[in-house]
Amino acid sequence: MHITRKDLNEMHRVRRLNLINGITGIKPANLIGTRSKTNIPNVSIFSSIVHLGSDPALFGFILRPTGEVPRNTYENILETGYYTLNHIHESFIENAHYTSAKFDANVSEFEKCSLTEEYLYNFPAPFVGESKIKLGLHFVEELSIKSNGTKMIVGEIEQLIIPKNCLDDKGYLRLDQISDVGIGGLNNYYSLRRIKSLPYARVREVPDFGSYKT
Ligand SMILES: Cc1cc2nc3c(=O)[nH]c(=O)nc-3n(C[C@H](O)[C@H](O)[C@H](O)COP(=O)(O)O)c2cc1C
Repeated sequence: MHITRKDLNEMHRVRRLNLINGITGIKPANLIGTRSKTNIPNVSIFSSIVHLGSDPALFGFILRPTGEVPRNTYENILETGYYTLNHIHESFIENAHYTSAKFDANVSEFEKCSLTEEYLYNFPAPFVGESKIKLGLHFVEELSIKSNGTKMIVGEIEQLIIPKNCLDDKGYLRLDQISDVGIGGLNNYYSLRRIKSLPYARVREVPDFGSYKT
């Protein structure tokens, strides 16, 4: 199948959304936990989280345009300066998925989607009790992406919570051992399996893959 920009422009809006949203492959599955300054908790699913650097430990996520719909996560992050990232596991995919519904700002998705609001280590934003890997971040900056009105929200780690059984002897995370999931597009969830662990790729250690095809 060959699809051009013209085909995309003419495609039904929902089909295009499903295709383009999933075309880069599997994305991470996280719930972002926040609290408003009037203490109303919020939790919502986000898949656009990306690691920006390890020292300082920075992460970004993409926020869709803020004009059309209320953006409780964004407003809470700006108001309080803190948020949490919580991995999604196979046992609570549906609860996590339905946090994407457009609930009013005064409604707690924790309650509506039966997820546990958890406060740890005096961190001001709520973690998700069901989640095994949890990060507490403080807001660092927002970057506007002019071409489509989205924003990248950048945060730095303050707290990192990981169960011992998901770190191997080299310190690599074993996401398969805690039934972490990945996201395809906006509606499809995948299980994870570690296939291989390879060393840092040095030029002199590249295996002989045979001659190039011309
Ligand atoms: C699987 C999935 C992934 C999503 N990822 C994002 C994302 O990366 N960025 C975004 O702005 N919205 C994303 N959404 C939509 C938000 O979850 C949704 O807009 C939610 O209502 C935001 O809640 P809030 O208004 O409480 O912040 C995603 C939805 C689903 C179902």
